[in-house]
Amino acid sequence: MGLFSRLFGRHTKEKPHKKTSGQSCEHQSPDGRIRLVFTLQNGQPHYSVEKDGKEIVRPSRLGFEFRGQPPFGDNLEIVRHHSRGHDETWPTFWGEESEIHNNYNEIAVYLEEKTEPGRLFTLRFRVFNDGVAFRYEFPAQNNIDNIIAVREDTEFAIDVNSTAWWIPAYQPDRYEYLYQNTPLFSLTAPVHTPLTIHSTSGSFVSIHEAALYNYGSMNIKLENGKLVSDITPLADGSKAQVNLPFETPWRVLIIAHNAVDLTKSRMVLNLNDPPNPKNDFSWVKPIKFMGIWWALHIGEMTWASGDRHGANTENTMEYIDACKRLGIPALLLEGWNPGWEGDWMGDGANFDFTSPQSDLDFPRVINYARSQNVQLVAHHETAGNIENYEQQMITALDYLQGFDIHYLKTGYAGSMLGKRDYHHSQLGVKHYQKVVEECAKRQIMLDVHEPIKGTGIERTWPNLMVREGARGQEYEGGGITPEHFTVLPFTRMLAGSFDMTPGLFDLTNSVKRVTSTLARQLAFYVTIFSPMEMVSGRPRYYDNNPAFKFIQDVPTTWEKSVPLLGEVGDYFVIARKDLNSPNWFVGGITDENARTINLYLDFLEPEVEYIAEIHKDAPDTHFRDNPLAIDINEQHVRSSDSLNIFMAAGGGFAIRIRPALAH
Ligand code: NOJ
Repeated sequence: MGLFSRLFGRHTKEKPHKKTSGQSCEHQSPDGRIRLVFTLQNGQPHYSVEKDGKEIVRPSRLGFEFRGQPPFGDNLEIVRHHSRGHDETWPTFWGEESEIHNNYNEIAVYLEEKTEPGRLFTLRFRVFNDGVAFRYEFPAQNNIDNIIAVREDTEFAIDVNSTAWWIPAYQPDRYEYLYQNTPLFSLTAPVHTPLTIHSTSGSFVSIHEAALYNYGSMNIKLENGKLVSDITPLADGSKAQVNLPFETPWRVLIIAHNAVDLTKSRMVLNLNDPPNPKNDFSWVKPIKFMGIWWALHIGEMTWASGDRHGANTENTMEYIDACKRLGIPALLLEGWNPGWEGDWMGDGANFDFTSPQSDLDFPRVINYARSQNVQLVAHHETAGNIENYEQQMITALDYLQGFDIHYLKTGYAGSMLGKRDYHHSQLGVKHYQKVVEECAKRQIMLDVHEPIKGTGIERTWPNLMVREGARGQEYEGGGITPEHFTVLPFTRMLAGSFDMTPGLFDLTNSVKRVTSTLARQLAFYVTIFSPMEMVSGRPRYYDNNPAFKFIQDVPTTWEKSVPLLGEVGDYFVIARKDLNSPNWFVGGITDENARTINLYLDFLEPEVEYIAEIHKDAPDTHFRDNPLAIDINEQHVRSSDSLNIFMAAGGGFAIRIRPALAH
């Protein structure tokens, strides 16, 4: 492929299947299995979705209410419609795949109100082999410069007898909850997306959104027996205030035959644009990093100044030495800056992002890190006080750029932004985007904690490497169940990479007892995807531990990923191929039940002889009373082989597979 088509993709037109009659039209996926029907019923727009002739979404209403205007979505007529096919393969900067296939049939339906004020809008549908997406587009029009949306009425009429895995919206800990699994009819309050549903049709469906910019994030609620969109409001109750022309984020329905196939979908990334060619992202590089982190969370060190301050000069230099010794190329410095004294989460007003704490000789530490070839990951904890942060942000990012620091972890702990607005409101969405763009100008890559959920914008802004946005290992010590991380591949991970802070080796710590076996900690590096990946434990637990070699070897970006086995909330097994070598890595995790799986190696190259370095739970391993027992062994394998692998309760396994001749 030539440079131009590698950068911008290959586009070919095909003849999509479509049918049109009067006030309805329909369209099919490229493989003909998914069918989208759009109709106007008494002038009101509706859509429905079928797969293989089975109804997935019954006719569902689309519409809006704007402040100071009549409801929008009645008395409409189709002015014209236009369809096209799209087929391209685009290269990623980093990802679960080095190239992604983007193939859909699109229909744009142009609508006009027959009555006053005669407003115009377009509904654009894309039908993929793995689902359907659509968005509302409001063109520039007479007498309307801006709109204040007070309701978006997008229905998703999926049979409410289906079961779903969900976390509640509008809660103080944002997305950091354990998933619940209930029938849809029992939803009593709005839930976040991705909302993954095992539908009564047999299919798995996940409702999410893509390309969320300048708009409130979409939650889902049950209203009059139907699922409907619930847009996170601003403090004044409105959902979004925008100038025309404007297009909403894509409303996405990923549809798959089984739970594992759901995890193969790349629709959310495909619905985002490639980077603007004016923005150079060639500097973006995946990385692994250790941190002054777990010691803070178990109270051994502090973020705040004092005797146990973690990020002082001496301790930071020791951690830099540990990075060097253990072969981990970067170090996160939490607590490097002032403002942590007292109840920092209370309002975050004391955070200063442009100077170090008095016991940290920042220039010295930076020079030392450089001399040891260790990069630093800076930290901006805002406690959600975005006013304080935005006042300092430009100077603070210039400050990092001045020190040649290219990685930054941000944080928005606290239940509201500025004690007033939801993290997921239009205000939050705009703030997070501003940070991404200012960082991009300064070649800074981001790991965002307490973020807005992922909607694939990292395709356009690849310096946005990873987000938290789910309950991670900081909740160990009572807040994690073994089941949790077997739900995430089918829910949270559909929204993109996740910083779950894997790699804890002191699993029996009395302050925060970890619900995991040692082999499972290795497995997370494969089952959870993150191109800016933490090695979260304290260095002394890694020294002389043979299991650590797997963490040194495992890549953070991949040529391809092959999800193999799994059921939501029970287990998950995935194989991934390294981008820069012929090596494969396989990870598997289970819930609180031990199980043995049969792992077919048919993803390997045929005829090649490989060596599998297997790390698995021992027969007597158990996450509760014997988490550290691990079996590490090597075995010659070929693609025609299969391996029986035991996973203990709360356990897992991790395998590195290398060609027998290579090392
Ligand atoms: C919560 C983040 O998730 C965690 O990683 C961080 O250490 C603390 N906030 C302090 O910023």
